[in-house]
Amino acid sequence: MDKPIYAALKSIGACIPDRIVTNDDLAQIVDTSDEWITKRTGIKERRFASSNQATSDLAINAAKVALNRANIKPSDIDMVIVATISPDFLCMPSTACVVSSALGIVGKPAFDISAACSGFIYLLSLAKSFIESKTCKNILIIGAEKLSSIIDMEDRSTCVLFGDGAGAAVIGATCDISKSILDVNISSNGEYQDFLMTPGCGSRNPITNDTINDRLQFIKMKGNETFKIAVKTLTNDVVEILKRNNLSKDDIDFFVPHQANLRIISAVGEALQFPDDKVAKTVHKYGNTSAASIPITINELFEEGKIKDGSRLLLDAFGGGLTWGSALLSFNSV
Ligand code: COA
Repeated sequence: MDKPIYAALKSIGACIPDRIVTNDDLAQIVDTSDEWITKRTGIKERRFASSNQATSDLAINAAKVALNRANIKPSDIDMVIVATISPDFLCMPSTACVVSSALGIVGKPAFDISAACSGFIYLLSLAKSFIESKTCKNILIIGAEKLSSIIDMEDRSTCVLFGDGAGAAVIGATCDISKSILDVNISSNGEYQDFLMTPGCGSRNPITNDTINDRLQFIKMKGNETFKIAVKTLTNDVVEILKRNNLSKDDIDFFVPHQANLRIISAVGEALQFPDDKVAKTVHKYGNTSAASIPITINELFEEGKIKDGSRLLLDAFGGGLTWGSALLSFNSV
């Protein structure tokens, strides 16, 4: 019988745009304040890409770091998947095709997925399946967003929350289960689709002067409702994945939740009784970067020396759709 093959995270990389936008900068544009944003969200600043940078540009930079750290040539990548809600182009080509071409990955499948802030967990689930079914040996996954292109700078309740960035990982095959992505759990519930959405410019409300004048191309959010369901779902998700793997919080080196709001992160961390220093936080610096937030945060833990080869990570995300998911994995650095 063939030896079982497992999927492992082999490297991480990120790209954070240079331009820092502080809460005080936003207070020049909308009726808000550093005090309000800090108290309600924990966000102090975020990054906005420049006008000539698209989502793929951030994705390509993040991917180059991940490929380099994995010591893998583009020709060894069998598939490229990008999770984004702010693709370069509304319909086609996919951002993954743009990224593949720029990296010199030719003749391999490349496609985007849409799972909003849960995008990176969905990517892990897909990559794990393709590798463990022996369809692929190495997959490049990227969560990348230029959310500054889809936030309404006239809506103070949303424009203060989001930022731009990208995070990438190489997922490769291993025979060593202790190095693997142990488990991934992904879910959705479209009943709550209107909690977080961009209502315009798709086939439901095609692009017309009216849709644009009504600003339907931008993110709309029911903040309070989203907040409550996020805390409950993120907490339950972790309890379930730990239970089904016979693990406890003490077996986890770092809890890496999606970075949307410090109050959500703290509420979930406290409900699960994780010590505060085991809960990863980057939301104060980057805001909510949707599909990019978890890989950016893992990259930061790695670059700061807080995680090393063999560290066990528990990831947990929640986002528009609604979608959510969690993952248990070993961090590996080649
Ligand atoms: N600056 C100042 N005041 C603001 C503001 C801003 N940026 N945004 C909203 N307000 C005002 C509202 O207009 C409201 O004023 P009113 O009472 O006079 O009507 C007041 O602040 C309270 O608004 P509310 O929406 O109830 O605030 P909140 O405590 O729920 O905080 C969020 C708002 C968005 C920070 C919070 O709901 C949240 O974090 N939700 C989850 C968002 C999220 O994480 N989404 C992504 C999930 S992936």
